[in-house]
Amino acid sequence: MTTHTAVLIPGDGIGPEVAQAARRILEAADAPVQFIERHAGVVALERGGDDVLPLDTVDAIREHGVALKGPCTTPIGKGFGSVNVALRKKLNLYAAVRPVRSLPGVKTRFEDVDLVIVRENTEGLYSGIENLITEGVVMSMKVATRNACSRIGEWTFDYAVRRNRSKVSVFHKANIMKMTDGMFIDEARQVHEKSYPQIKYEEVIIDAALMKIVQDPTQFDIILCENLYGDIVSDLCAGLVGGLGVTPGANIGDKDAVFEAVHGSAPDIAGQNLANPLALIMSAAMMLNYISESRKDDSARDAAKRIKSAYNLALNDGKRTRDLGGDLGTQEFTQAVIDRMNG
Ligand code: NAI
Repeated sequence: MTTHTAVLIPGDGIGPEVAQAARRILEAADAPVQFIERHAGVVALERGGDDVLPLDTVDAIREHGVALKGPCTTPIGKGFGSVNVALRKKLNLYAAVRPVRSLPGVKTRFEDVDLVIVRENTEGLYSGIENLITEGVVMSMKVATRNACSRIGEWTFDYAVRRNRSKVSVFHKANIMKMTDGMFIDEARQVHEKSYPQIKYEEVIIDAALMKIVQDPTQFDIILCENLYGDIVSDLCAGLVGGLGVTPGANIGDKDAVFEAVHGSAPDIAGQNLANPLALIMSAAMMLNYISESRKDDSARDAAKRIKSAYNLALNDGKRTRDLGGDLGTQEFTQAVIDRMNG
């Protein structure tokens, strides 16, 4: 069996706890992956480094092509810029993919949610280009390039075909941001018309789209958004299926891929064995499927299946962390999943 090397970045806050959980699950599932650990975030400074995103972390991902990453803290309104944004830009991880699915035993308002959010990961207001024009007047620049808009459109429709999905809905505000969001939908529409007429396609103004999602999420399938909208829509959709503790994600480029949960470092519960590790465990399963597809290794896909079936069994048996209304700690829930690995 080939063993693939992946970079494990524990990150900040609850990151080390959920990263440790994911590592234990992969071991229990006999996943064909060995981790090398690298650091990013506040922890990288605390360990004596001089950058929140050390070069050896970026280089390790470039060398091995895949990483599983815990969340990294970004200070609000001041301080250093986001490690996550920097990493996505440095490695050109232009497609953020966030599946949002109802889980067995996790009761929410809706029973059959099955959405995928694809977020353009390199541009928009997230570019973080802000200027002081004069005292009391500041400006933030929203960036859109035709190349990036067309690239994410192409990636999304290709993903729709690979995953047997039937519809792509683009959320936008091109009525107001006629140039930037206008270009985003123009490019998606052109990709659709030129190459993917078999996939249904629609453009929905984002404010009305959000109302529609909370009324009936089953009317959507794949949701394509520019960067900031994708960030906000992801958390809203997480709320449809049980919250941030159960929503995984991937940041994918042409060469490298970094898998991470949608949630942040959750400083309010860090270090207390309270975090739900499932979102990162699910992200690890996505990583195995990516390895399986990109390196033609069925054993990685089989390990992902074992993991998925084990956490579904655990949830079905009422094993849940506190965010899902249960009483298990991070480690106890992880053990409950491991106990069901070969069940
Ligand atoms: P957050 O996602 O860390 O927390 C929001 C709420 O959800 C909190 O009440 C938290 O306790 C809860 N929560 C999150 N993950 C959970 C889990 N696995 N289990 C149980 N409860 C969970 O978002 P917040 O508070 O806005 O951000 C905190 C920090 O995380 C900030 O510095 C932010 O910049 C950073 N962040 C990092 C991300 C990344 O590394 N990809 C993504 C989002 C935020």
